[in-house]
Amino acid sequence: MTPHAPYCPAQMVPAYDDLHRMAQVLLAQNMGAGAVLVLGAGGGNEMAALAAARPDWRFVGVDPDAAMLDLARSKCAGFGGRITYVQGKIEVAPMGPFDGAVCLLTLHFLPSEERLATLQALRGRLKAGAALVVAHHCIPAGEAGLWLPRFADFAANNGVTGPGLANGAQALGRALPILTPDEDMALMRRAGFAGVAQFFHAFTFRGFVGIAQ
Ligand SMILES: C[S@@+](CC[C@H](N)C(=O)[O-])C[C@H]1O[C@@H](n2cnc3c(N)ncnc32)[C@H](O)[C@@H]1O
Repeated sequence: MTPHAPYCPAQMVPAYDDLHRMAQVLLAQNMGAGAVLVLGAGGGNEMAALAAARPDWRFVGVDPDAAMLDLARSKCAGFGGRITYVQGKIEVAPMGPFDGAVCLLTLHFLPSEERLATLQALRGRLKAGAALVVAHHCIPAGEAGLWLPRFADFAANNGVTGPGLANGAQALGRALPILTPDEDMALMRRAGFAGVAQFFHAFTFRGFVGIAQ
């Protein structure tokens, strides 16, 4: 699902702003001043929230979509000196090593093998002991029919319209390679993260944290 302008994920993701505040806590427990790698940084919302909360953090925002990266530049204009933008996927991101990383509402676009390779590449750019915070659509086996309509109704109640919703949430489920919580956490462990735990669950969305080993 490519986001359409205007980009308003808070209408679709319950507790979207709290997700950023939780990401900040999880990163901060594992870093002081330092640099955060933000993968799927388009729109700039999480970088703006993190940059506002932590003047001592710098960011590299990576995203393949030029328009989404432009949105991020605009959203984060006030933090210009602390943010570097890179257009592309994880392969083009600098090697760091970074003190923390976030990847929000992005990994659900990636099939299992590409997701693992992306997580491994993230791990390779982190210092040992750094936190990776991710959140995306993630649904237990056999429960898509239960949770996707709840997600769709939440979005519709917040004024979201569009072909994805009109055709029913099941279309979204078919379009995205959504994994189960166990599968998501297993990929993080295989990629070299320990202490992998779920910290967030809101309808179809779950968030996980892991510590680079
Ligand atoms: C739904 S938006 C989420 C943006 C932002 N992280 C947020 O939470 O509001 C997903 C973003 O992931 C980007 N994206 C898609 N595939 C990607 C990939 N393989 N690597 C990095 N970013 C990707 C898209 O261009 C888009 O900007």
